[in-house]
Amino acid sequence: MGKIELEIKIFGDPVLRKKANPVAKVTDQHRQILSQMAKAMYDDSGIGLAAPQVGFSDQLIAADIGEGLYKLVNPRIIKKQGKQSISEGCLSVPEVCIKVKRAKQIWVQALDEYGRPIEIKACDLFACVLQHEIDHLKGKLIVDYASFLQKIRIKKKLAALKSKVKPPLI
Ligand code: NI
Repeated sequence: MGKIELEIKIFGDPVLRKKANPVAKVTDQHRQILSQMAKAMYDDSGIGLAAPQVGFSDQLIAADIGEGLYKLVNPRIIKKQGKQSISEGCLSVPEVCIKVKRAKQIWVQALDEYGRPIEIKACDLFACVLQHEIDHLKGKLIVDYASFLQKIRIKKKLAALKSKVKPPLI
């Protein structure tokens, strides 16, 4: 792939609901996708982005809460501790904000962009962001955490978002 600007996929796009594939071997192409994801994330003032959000069904995430950029391949939560509840937004679900109950601390195993195994202990906001991005890799979105009443309240917004999805050009 060249130096194409990645496009953020919006709620209603089927790629957001697909389970992302584990990466068998980290290649230059994955590194390129990861650096373009980081750029797209910074351009949109995001603090995390998962590959399905830019149309790639691979287990890749980028995250930066202001403490440095993480590019992770095949991230897995191996341990969780505590509870927290933070209001979350998502670049793929614009204008929607949902309070999500998550673990306060998590331990994540992943590969770095060169395929080297790493382990991260994340707390508070960083733990929240990683759980959010790992959800994306499973096809899960913040709207799935909305209560029945919240869903009714955001129904119109979601329908409007869904209608914005462009059909594939064939
Ligand atoms: Ni998101």
